[in-house]
Amino acid sequence: MSVISKSNPLPPVSLNSNCLSDIATRKAETDAGVEGVALTYFEETVHFTCTHLLYIFYPAYEQFYYESQVDAFARTGKELPPYVNSWLGEGVLFIHRFIASPASIGSIFPSSSFLVEAMTRKVADGVNPKTAPRRYLDIGAGTGSFTAGMIAKMRPQDHLDVVEFDPNLCKLLQRRFRHLPNVHIHPISIFDFHPKERYDVVVTGLPLNNFASEDVKRALKQYVDLTRPGGSFCYFEYIALPKIAQLVRCLFGCEEASKNFTRIEEAKLKQQEQFGPEIDSVYLNMTPARAIHFKVS
Ligand SMILES: C[S@@+](CC[C@H](N)C(=O)[O-])C[C@H]1O[C@@H](n2cnc3c(N)ncnc32)[C@H](O)[C@@H]1O
Repeated sequence: MSVISKSNPLPPVSLNSNCLSDIATRKAETDAGVEGVALTYFEETVHFTCTHLLYIFYPAYEQFYYESQVDAFARTGKELPPYVNSWLGEGVLFIHRFIASPASIGSIFPSSSFLVEAMTRKVADGVNPKTAPRRYLDIGAGTGSFTAGMIAKMRPQDHLDVVEFDPNLCKLLQRRFRHLPNVHIHPISIFDFHPKERYDVVVTGLPLNNFASEDVKRALKQYVDLTRPGGSFCYFEYIALPKIAQLVRCLFGCEEASKNFTRIEEAKLKQQEQFGPEIDSVYLNMTPARAIHFKVS
C-alpha cells in the first residue's frame, strides 16, 4: 500500500466504500504505530465523522476500521488495545438499532451509570479474594453498559457470559470485550441459550414489556432456571413509562396490546409476590427506572 502523509496527501476523493476502507486501514495503522503512515486533516475528519456520527448512515465503516485494527496490531505484533470507549459512537449505534428494531431494543438510550450501579450491585456481594470463582450472566447486553459494570466488579478468576441477539450490537460487544479471556459473547436469543451450569448472578436488560406475554413468562422462568440456588437475578423496568404507554393504548383502542400488557404485569407481580424482591429506584436515568433483585433459594 502507498504511504500517504500530510505533505503528500491523497488526491481529492469521492467517498465510496473503497476510499473509506482505505482511510480505516491507514487510521488503524497509525493507531498501531506503523511508521510513515499518516492521515490528512480531511481524512481525520472523515474518520471522526464515520466513527462518531455516521453509524446511522454507514455502520459498515466501523467494521472496516475494526477489522483493519485487528490486522494492523497483529502485523506489528502488538496486542489490540482495550476498546477505547466512545460514548457518542455507542449512543448513536444504540439509537440506530432502536430505529431498526424498536420492540426488541426497547429503549432509545443506553442505561445511565446510576442504573448500571443499581443493577450490578450483587456482583461483588459477599465476595472476597478467596471466594471460589463465580459465574455471571448478562442477558440483552445492548452496547454493554451492564457488561462493563459487571466486569469492573469481577475478579480475573470469575466468568461472564453475555447473550445478545442483535448482530450489530454483538460486533460492538466483541470489540469492547474480546481482550478479556473470561468474557464470552453469545450472539443468540436467550430462548436458545442452554448453558451446562447455572450462574451466581444474572443481570438482564430484556425489554419484557415489549414481548408477547407468553415470552415474558418463559423469560421469567428462564431467569430462575439460570440462577443457582443462593444466587440472584435482576431486571429493570421503567417507573412511569409503561403506565403512560398503557394509557395511550387504551385511548387509541389497541385492545390486544393492552390485554397483553395486563398479562405481562400479572406475570411479573406473581413472581414478585413469590420472591419478595429488593427494589432500588433510580431516578437519574432516561427514563427513571427500578432495578429489581430476586434471590433464588
Ligand atoms: C433495553 S436494551 C438493554 C441494553 C443494555 N443492557 C442497557 O441497559 O444499556 C435490550 C437489549 O436486549 C436485546 N434483546 C431483545 N430480545 C432478546 C433476546 N430474545 N435474546 C437476547 N437479546 C435480546 C436487544 O437486542 C437489546 O440490545
